[in-house]
Amino acid sequence: MQSIIITGGAGFIGSHVVRLFVNKYPDYHIINLDKLTYAGNLANLKDIEDKPNYTFVKGDICDYELILELMKKHNVTGIIHLAAESHVDRSIKDPFTFARTNVMGTLSMLQAAKT
Ligand SMILES: NC(=O)c1ccc[n+]([C@@H]2O[C@H](COP(=O)([O-])OP(=O)(O)OC[C@H]3O[C@@H](n4cnc5c(N)ncnc54)[C@H](O)[C@@H]3O)[C@@H](O)[C@H]2O)c1
Repeated sequence: MQSIIITGGAGFIGSHVVRLFVNKYPDYHIINLDKLTYAGNLANLKDIEDKPNYTFVKGDICDYELILELMKKHNVTGIIHLAAESHVDRSIKDPFTFARTNVMGTLSMLQAAKT
């Protein structure tokens, strides 16, 4: 079975994308990778949490080793990257977290995709 990692799947946009993919593509294993920050909420996905083609992984996109492990363990053929610090006001209050997730986290996903 091919797998798709969707990052930020517990967020506003990600939860809709995860639900759509889990229901529309039963032949694909959908892995929702989310750190569950203040913005993530698994209650958004109650209706699909028991589906056989769905797995939730609590983790950080900056954790390069974790991403590599997931890619190796599952037959990952696609990534949809939606995890982010998305609130502009917070980026002013806490720019380091913002840059870490949005820049280094995205780099980590890109680098893992190349392997
Ligand atoms: N909401 C919009 O109107 C809109 C419009 C255009 C583009 N976007 C973009 O779409 C993407 C998703 O937006 P959203 O509104 O769903 O955001 P959101 O803040 O609702 O969700 C972000 C998700 O990412 C997770 N997350 C944060 N840091 C993480 C980390 N280090 N590792 C793993 N998971 C982490 C959070 O727990 C949360 O579930 C963002 O890149 C955003 O800029 C959003």
